Amino acid sequence: MSKKKPQRSGRLRILVIHGPNLNLLGSREPEIYGSFSLAKINRLIKSESGFLKADVTFKQSNHEGELVDLIGTARNKYDGIVINPAAYTHTSIALRDAILACGIPAVEVHLSNIYGREEFRRESLTAPVCVGQVSGFGEMSYLLGLRGLVEKLKKS
Ligand code: DQA
Repeated sequence: MSKKKPQRSGRLRILVIHGPNLNLLGSREPEIYGSFSLAKINRLIKSESGFLKADVTFKQSNHEGELVDLIGTARNKYDGIVINPAAYTHTSIALRDAILACGIPAVEVHLSNIYGREEFRRESLTAPVCVGQVSGFGEMSYLLGLRGLVEKLKKS
């Protein structure tokens, strides 16, 4: 993995990507995904990033190709990626290849514990090419994933 120069301020730049249907959080199956909207989760991530001295940028898309483009162009703008690929976790070789190709570390996060749910959710095509995965802690999964990624980047 290529070593990137930190931006002049010394703050790490993290791209947070939310996959399909996560724009519906708050009203979407709250018994599984919780009652927080995506905007609220983003506010929590932003506040955590302040403690970690990182700058976060948020993107959400329901479209696989758009997610591939986002990851593919992340290299020159960001130091790392926190991604919840949502349903594409279980289906997308294109997202897996994009994460591999992008050359910056990514952490996969899930609100629910994908290993305790339906059989088809128990496999992640993307986690093996990420530096780590956090699954099952609701909105905390994002905060823990961000923390882990920032610590890893600081050590590299
Ligand atoms: C999810 C789990 C996926 O299986 C599902 O398709 C999602 C959300 C999660 O955050 O728990 O959309 O990624």
